[in-house]
Amino acid sequence: MSKRIAILGSTGSIGKNALRVIDSLGAGYEVVALSAHSKVELLAEQVRKYKPKFAAVTNTDFAEQFRSMVSELDVEVLAGPGGLEEIAKLEDVDIVLTAIVGAAGLPAVLSAAKAGKTLAIANKEPLVIAGELLMRTIKASGGTILPVDSEHSAIFQAMQAGSHDEVSKIILTSSGGPFRKMSLGTIENVTAEQALAHPVWDMGPKITIDSATMMNKALEVIEAHWLFGMPVEKIEVLVHPESIIHSLVEFIDGSVVALLSKPDMCLPIQYALTYPKRVKGIAEHLQLDKIGKLTFEKPNLETFRALSLGFEVARTGGTAAVVFNAANETAVEQFLAGRIKFVRIVELVEHCLNRHNVKKQVSLEELLEADGWARKEVEQRVQQRKSVGI
Ligand SMILES: NC(=O)c1ccc[n+]([C@@H]2O[C@H](COP(=O)([O-])OP(=O)(O)OC[C@H]3O[C@@H](n4cnc5c(N)ncnc54)[C@H](OP(=O)(O)O)[C@@H]3O)[C@@H](O)[C@H]2O)c1
Repeated sequence: MSKRIAILGSTGSIGKNALRVIDSLGAGYEVVALSAHSKVELLAEQVRKYKPKFAAVTNTDFAEQFRSMVSELDVEVLAGPGGLEEIAKLEDVDIVLTAIVGAAGLPAVLSAAKAGKTLAIANKEPLVIAGELLMRTIKASGGTILPVDSEHSAIFQAMQAGSHDEVSKIILTSSGGPFRKMSLGTIENVTAEQALAHPVWDMGPKITIDSATMMNKALEVIEAHWLFGMPVEKIEVLVHPESIIHSLVEFIDGSVVALLSKPDMCLPIQYALTYPKRVKGIAEHLQLDKIGKLTFEKPNLETFRALSLGFEVARTGGTAAVVFNAANETAVEQFLAGRIKFVRIVELVEHCLNRHNVKKQVSLEELLEADGWARKEVEQRVQQRKSVGI
């Protein structure tokens, strides 16, 4: 029996890598559905090559254009964000690979979880903002959640060396991003071009900016907390510029199990698709003698305040994480649009956290309300401060 796969966000960095992995896996893996937001030419090319039964275009402005591009093909086109929820619960789908960027992926992730699918999750933001709800839903439906984020895939694999209560801590590694060596003063005026030039990973723009602020690592702390049911006190971050060790798990006897590989997202994507099997793949193998040495340092929490905020948010729980994430998504958009300086991203996130009254035990509606409030708060603050050169 083939594994039938839906890729939500097939035109992005993870989505394209997932298709490369599927090409290399060959028979036994069938692409049933693909999606894009606005890159419809690329989506049409992918539809011609992989012949999925379904293709979704979430930005309705591009749906008609896409329909005409694939009119001669046997594919059902779904338009608007609701199309992702439909795809995520299709009978014809076994694995839903979520490669959407941001909170926009939440409804589809929840839909796949409710339908008891195997969820190969790259889209970390839904886990950050609704981790408790998502883990509860997947448990109730009998579905499975497999991390694609390289750090979480590494932890997932390392955890198999012992039982959950034998873990004393998990250590997430971080490359440190392009500004690792900078102080708060020197980072003030970095440009979008500099922030988008990641030293190791080639990724989409939002996660690349998140890596530069270390917001990405903050989100990953919260992601790990939910995925592995690990108290925040047992999660640490270690800067490891070579990005060869993707994360580590320390057990109560003092043994530390690490996962090493070349930094290449094809490997964790492949592991999630072939799990529980391992097969030969396209990722280049490691040659440690050529690398020579691996280095580690503590994160600089003064320059990268996002990381301390992430730990605080993970401890606080409730609506804190949704505000943290939504404020960041909006601030990153403002930075990429050239409206604010790099350092204002985290300042705006902190501003929102300070103004927000955290609610615990919240419904999905309350989470979405807090998300909307934080986005508006960032936009208004940027508008108000435009005149003083934010
Ligand atoms: N890139 C990596 O190496 C990496 C590693 C670990 C985790 N992740 C996580 O994986 C997710 C995807 O990252 P990425 O780097 O692949 O992002 P990306 O390159 O920006 O791709 C994002 C995908 O989502 C689609 N999309 C954008 N906005 C959307 C919306 N509002 N509704 C529905 N679809 C939308 C895009 O469509 P269009 O192309 O048509 O705009 C594209 O297919 C993120 O959550 C990221 O944190 C990425």
